[in-house]
Amino acid sequence: MSDQNSSPLEGGPFSFVRFARQPFYRAVNEHLVEISEFKPGGAILDLACGTGEITKLILNRLHGVKNTIIIAMDTSNKALDQARKELAGAKGVMIQFVQGQAEQLSQTLKGRVDAVVFCNAIHMVDDKPKVLGEIHKVLNPGGILAFNSTFFDGSQLPETDLFYRRWMSKALRLLKRKHGLLPARDVKVASRRQLTPEEYEQLLNQEGFVIKERKLEPVKVTLEGWLGISEFSDFIQGALPGVPLAAASEALQEAVTQVFQELELEAVPRLWLHVVAAARPQTT
Ligand SMILES: C[S@@+](CC[C@H](N)C(=O)[O-])C[C@H]1O[C@@H](n2cnc3c(N)ncnc32)[C@H](O)[C@@H]1O
Repeated sequence: MSDQNSSPLEGGPFSFVRFARQPFYRAVNEHLVEISEFKPGGAILDLACGTGEITKLILNRLHGVKNTIIIAMDTSNKALDQARKELAGAKGVMIQFVQGQAEQLSQTLKGRVDAVVFCNAIHMVDDKPKVLGEIHKVLNPGGILAFNSTFFDGSQLPETDLFYRRWMSKALRLLKRKHGLLPARDVKVASRRQLTPEEYEQLLNQEGFVIKERKLEPVKVTLEGWLGISEFSDFIQGALPGVPLAAASEALQEAVTQVFQELELEAVPRLWLHVVAAARPQTT
């Protein structure tokens, strides 16, 4: 597996790699993998695996236990290519890389799995009931779904409002001044439609799950983290819809650096929502 000291643009421009390599990010996802308590020996789906950072955490938790299959699935071929590279040296466990969309999961997967780990992606899904229903279909009865996200209603702490306001208004001013650009007003981005933790619970109940654990974890996101997320295409499009990625990314990075200096910040805390649920047996 490749080492932690990557150049910022490893994984290609606008990839998730730089953010995914941050120590706080690894720690928060490690926590979810730990509380999911999935058992080695079965099939585990890393849904929306991205560049493979969570797949590595799953592998670590398996401690080399044989007879476990990890299916790493993502809609993006580019992310999957990077994940394949990252996991090239992985030993002992079979990893299958599958290109597919969460919305068509039951058609894409051949068999059922014992656990689904779905990190930092559920907020990007438009039709959440559909995706949760698809996850339920591919899980063995009693199988585990563990997901997390820091883009839910309530993830932003009130004391950090000033940071976000300044960041966005500075980025907008920079965009206008340097490129004569403004974001499109009427573009709705899926990652912006955020649910509360209670709404997630309701949906899970409705789609056949029993909640085993729900946690909110405060995480200190460093400047390097904000610079990293400002390189990621989905975040950029959510923050500044309709603006060409290079210009938007540059404006977000310059603006966040200035705000960190002005407010003398070391980090900006936000909450991660972790949910672990078990699939009730299907009734039909
Ligand atoms: C923020 S990254 C998270 C990657 C990884 N799970 C992690 O936590 O580090 C989100 C990933 O979700 C993938 N994705 C978004 N919507 C998806 C969908 N409907 N089906 C499958 N993958 C999706 C994106 O391609 C991207 O790689």
